[in-house]
Amino acid sequence: MSSLKRGPFVAGNWKMNLGLGEARALARKVVEAGPDFGECTIVLFPPFTALGTVAGAIAGSAVGLGAQDLFWEDQGAYTGEVSAPMLRDAGCTYVLVGHSERRQLFGETDGTVNRKIKAALKAGLSPIVCVGETLAERDGGRTLDRIDDQLALGLADLPTGEIGRIIIAYEPVWAIGTGRTASPGQAEEVHAHIRGRIRESYGNESAACAIILYGGSVKPANSYPLFREKNIDGYLVGGASLDAGGFVDIAREALRACREKT
Ligand code: PGA
Repeated sequence: MSSLKRGPFVAGNWKMNLGLGEARALARKVVEAGPDFGECTIVLFPPFTALGTVAGAIAGSAVGLGAQDLFWEDQGAYTGEVSAPMLRDAGCTYVLVGHSERRQLFGETDGTVNRKIKAALKAGLSPIVCVGETLAERDGGRTLDRIDDQLALGLADLPTGEIGRIIIAYEPVWAIGTGRTASPGQAEEVHAHIRGRIRESYGNESAACAIILYGGSVKPANSYPLFREKNIDGYLVGGASLDAGGFVDIAREALRACREKT
């Protein structure tokens, strides 16, 4: 599979929300707004149960589909788990890996993140790898160290060339679902640091092409100033992605800021 192309990218993480009827309606509304998105990539991440329904609702449109998690084995006696080939089969091209809710509530570690990234890549999925510090880590001046650990361990021993198929999402844990957003300056500092680490490990071209998203209480009102920053390529939107109007407005703001940046 070829590398991803850097450009505005807006992902909607629906988390554990929406029945099938609601999921279908929300996906249709996003698709209907689609012609306005221009070069902005839009990807929806419904819960597993709604993947098939949303795949049907977005069929033939430019809107993409992703899952919120995966297991690293392809098949077998792993009750309750879903594999990368199964997600491909359901129509996914992306998958979230290492979201902070999975790290905090379900025991996800940098080691399991690494196995999941490799399984996703092997099956032809592009993983969106989430990294971010807690409030205690930020207050203790350990933000960049934490990010470094998550990147070094999470991306360890990747097959050559695969970095181009991975998206990194910087999501400060203290900003997720709290209404507190990182300031554009705080987010840009971490995004620039992540791009620098990609440059060190994989070279200039990989760094220049890398898609680095911000996540944490993104709303229509704060998306434009964040996107104006040089190293912020888009968003992983949680709560605000459940409202079609707000989500579409975020994508439009991303596009507006992107056109001004270039
Ligand atoms: P939020 O969630 O936008 O509701 O803060 C973001 C995320 O968890 O990806």
